Amino acid sequence: MNNKHLLTADEFSPEQLKALFEHADAMRTTLTDEKARKELATKHIDKQVCSLFYEPSTRTRSSFEAAAMKLGMGVVSTENASEFSSAAKGETITDTTQVLNQYGFSAIIIRHPQTGAVAEAASVSEAPIINAGDGKGDHPSQSLLDTYTIYRKFGRLNNLRVVMGGDLRNGRTVRSLAKILAKYQGNHLVFVSLPELQMADDIKEILTATGTTFEESSEMEQAFKNADVIYWTRLQKERLQGDASISSGGFVIDKNSLKYIDEHAIIMHPLPRVGEITEEVDADPRAIYFEQAGNGLYIRMALLDGMVC
Ligand code: CP
Repeated sequence: MNNKHLLTADEFSPEQLKALFEHADAMRTTLTDEKARKELATKHIDKQVCSLFYEPSTRTRSSFEAAAMKLGMGVVSTENASEFSSAAKGETITDTTQVLNQYGFSAIIIRHPQTGAVAEAASVSEAPIINAGDGKGDHPSQSLLDTYTIYRKFGRLNNLRVVMGGDLRNGRTVRSLAKILAKYQGNHLVFVSLPELQMADDIKEILTATGTTFEESSEMEQAFKNADVIYWTRLQKERLQGDASISSGGFVIDKNSLKYIDEHAIIMHPLPRVGEITEEVDADPRAIYFEQAGNGLYIRMALLDGMVC
């Protein structure tokens, strides 16, 4: 990371990413050995992290908190901060952060519905701030676990054909993943979405500036041809501001879709899914979204271990 906070996906160089993945692998190995696991659980015994989630989460919050505990850290958690923190009384995120800084946390993990709110918190924070997802902005730890998953499968992050589908306009995971893939040579991104849910221009500008080729398509099965990675996402209903006219566009991966997907390809999803990959796909060996979610634990352990040293 370029500074003590983790705010955006593009803060890691390829060399730093490789080191992070090795660190995550070491965490994975440590957890399989009882003696090593118990030793690790005392490593940061005098440290505490705060997890402050203004938006719902299953994976990010629980895996960050589990990661902290496996490293011996204490966790102070507010899982519904919009309602159960003093934000409900009108406190600003910068005031909340300055108060939390009084309590000696080694890191503060924040998810917030407003793009840029986590960076605002970081601007007043002595403690490292981790962006656990800010509005339509970024979800850096998700993209780290996504690229870790891809790297484990292919042994590389370059020369890949990656198809991203669904709500690319409002989804932060696809934005963050694209930013990381743009750091590597030879990747080709295919964006499958309805016209009103296309990838935003700022990401396309990054791709163009880095020489990363991309195309836009509404032909799902055509796009799957020769794909290495298929990364599917849900419609971000919570960000559509009541526009019920937008549907997922019928971009559903079901058993029939599998015949258009190469044997060597992997099917990923940041989850939660809400019907855009049917459950009958789960048994296919190419469907690795639950394994992907599991990788979040090791990446977040590596992140926290590195950040609080
Ligand atoms: N992928 C992801 O961010 O999941 P949660 O919303 O459950 O944390």
